[in-house]
Amino acid sequence: MAKKYPVQVKVNGKMKSAEVEPRLLLVHLLRDEFDLTGTHIGCDTSQCGACTVMLDGMAVKSCTILAIQADGAEITTVEGLGSREELHPIQQGFWEKHGLQCGFCTPGVMMAVNGLLQENINPSEAEIREALDGVICRCTGYQFIVKAVQHAAELIREQQSQPVSLENVTTRGDVS
Ligand code: FES
Ligand code: FES
Repeated sequence: MAKKYPVQVKVNGKMKSAEVEPRLLLVHLLRDEFDLTGTHIGCDTSQCGACTVMLDGMAVKSCTILAIQADGAEITTVEGLGSREELHPIQQGFWEKHGLQCGFCTPGVMMAVNGLLQENINPSEAEIREALDGVICRCTGYQFIVKAVQHAAELIREQQSQPVSLENVTTRGDVS
């Protein structure tokens, strides 16, 4: 039996650990050890992008990284993007603009889009298409996906232009 090594990562804000074989891929750590099955496996050969997650702020294909390489990293999967009650703007954009059909590719597409929008909240259509280069969708058609990303970017810009509420801010004079 192959020797196992400890891996500790922060996933969607929570510390998680496991003992893994050196050959285990990050996508299998997420799905099989941590039960985060929103990250999909479409090809296992780094072609489709269905397994895309955020790793230390960068969108990466989790089938191309060994779990032990991710030791100490901060990971966000699609489960950490938003919640059923409070959708993330990217999820809202895909919902409102019909950016998915079967949904198989969608978690990976959304995480690739997240990588783009974290760096650029006003991407051009060409920049969106370039960011989607590594993710393959076989049923929606990219036109709808591009529109969904444009809408998500609009929603993020709107959110960021909202004035910060001072209701709960403690000023120096309030401190006793
Ligand atoms: S499963 Fe990772 S790129 Fe296809
Ligand atoms: S929504 Fe079906 S493969 Fe993309």
